[in-house]
Amino acid sequence: MKNHFSRVGFILAAAGSAVGLGNIWKFPYVTGEYGGGAFVLVYLLAILFIGLTVFLAEAVIGQNAQSDVATSFIKTSKSKNQNWKFAGFIIFSGLIILSFYSVVLGWILNYVFTSFGTLPSDSKTAGSAFETLISKDIASQIIYHTVIAGSVIFIVLKGIKRGIEKINLILMPLLGLILLGLLFYSFTLDSFSTALNFMFYPDWSKIDSNALLAALGQAFFTLSLGVGAIMTYSASLPKNANFVKSSIIVAIVDTAIAITAGLIIFSFLFEAGAQSSAGPGLVFISLPVIFSGWGVLGQVISISFFVALVFAGITSAVSMIEPSLKFFIERFNFTRKKATILCGGIFYILGIIALLSMTIAFKDSLTFFGKNAFDWMDFMTSSVMMPLAAILTCVFLGYFVDKELLRRIFTAHVSLTVFNIWYFLIKFIVPIAIITLFLNKLGII
Ligand code: PFF
Ligand code: NA
Repeated sequence: MKNHFSRVGFILAAAGSAVGLGNIWKFPYVTGEYGGGAFVLVYLLAILFIGLTVFLAEAVIGQNAQSDVATSFIKTSKSKNQNWKFAGFIIFSGLIILSFYSVVLGWILNYVFTSFGTLPSDSKTAGSAFETLISKDIASQIIYHTVIAGSVIFIVLKGIKRGIEKINLILMPLLGLILLGLLFYSFTLDSFSTALNFMFYPDWSKIDSNALLAALGQAFFTLSLGVGAIMTYSASLPKNANFVKSSIIVAIVDTAIAITAGLIIFSFLFEAGAQSSAGPGLVFISLPVIFSGWGVLGQVISISFFVALVFAGITSAVSMIEPSLKFFIERFNFTRKKATILCGGIFYILGIIALLSMTIAFKDSLTFFGKNAFDWMDFMTSSVMMPLAAILTCVFLGYFVDKELLRRIFTAHVSLTVFNIWYFLIKFIVPIAIITLFLNKLGII
């Protein structure tokens, strides 16, 4: 792909991929489920020591090889061994994520439309409205999922990804502004200090291996790691561009947005007297109730907020499918159309299964070992496949790539000390940390 990004273009594309539902929908609700403070701290440590390290790993492989994920592994390896193409399998997690991500984007789209009507004025009404959508309204969910999936497919088919990025150049700052405005507003609420306490006062008794794994999974999910998205985008980054600085900027922006969203959503939630453990419905319960007290202005803010979120999510969605498309196009000579139909079809159908698995009608037949299909897709990707892909990437760079090559690339931008720290994290700390966590979770240690 000779279609290069500028460095700013790369930052925008990577930030577009990173910033999405992971920050505003998922981060608050997993934080709520795992009891707040301690989870947030573990999450921040995971971002700093593991997420950023793996982000740099994917960026350096992509930028150096300038190819699809499978070819990038082969090209970067010391031996140029063709078998490294199997590492390319990590891209398929992107399709699984995309399937349930599209369903959630569908819910958001639904909230854009319902914001034109009367917003629920208390958390009970808001909660049951969400519950009804998820558990009973199969038709609406399928329609919204189809609209979202169709848009994603249309965008990648027409290759108008850059067009979407232009739209986001307006909508992302808008999202940022709305978030800032809401943050300032939440300062005025009595519940702000409760929210602050909830998010930053660590209660270590709530931390077990499940919480640690969830924090790690969230760190990967939010930074778009372990599915080849960042590697694919870095493949379009000019070889001499400073990928380290770009990566750090993206990680900071992503983290700032997640924390801001968390503070707002918990302030609103506690103000409305609702429970922090509300699960995937959290954002849909806390925001509308506060907006409903503001009359027409509340509706305008609600609509703008959910619209901006749909677009933020669409750029993330596009980055989940792009690695698979590039793979089929470059390695199997598929046309873009054929690749899109195949990958689009897969995620669309998986999405239908995901949404049906939460409905009363199909719940029983789509629940396996106590988890419904939606939760399985989320769990298997965030908590299993992404961490495994991260181990693979670290072991690859630490043991199968020429250290001199990496040192040369890094020290063009950062000091030798920074490189050595990164290399030590990649070679020992990150793989050992993730493996220990897995073994602990499995009850082996
Ligand atoms: N980082 C995105 C978010 O936080 O919403 C989700 C995501 C995008 C995951 C792209 C994986 C990916 F490849
Ligand atoms: Na994110």
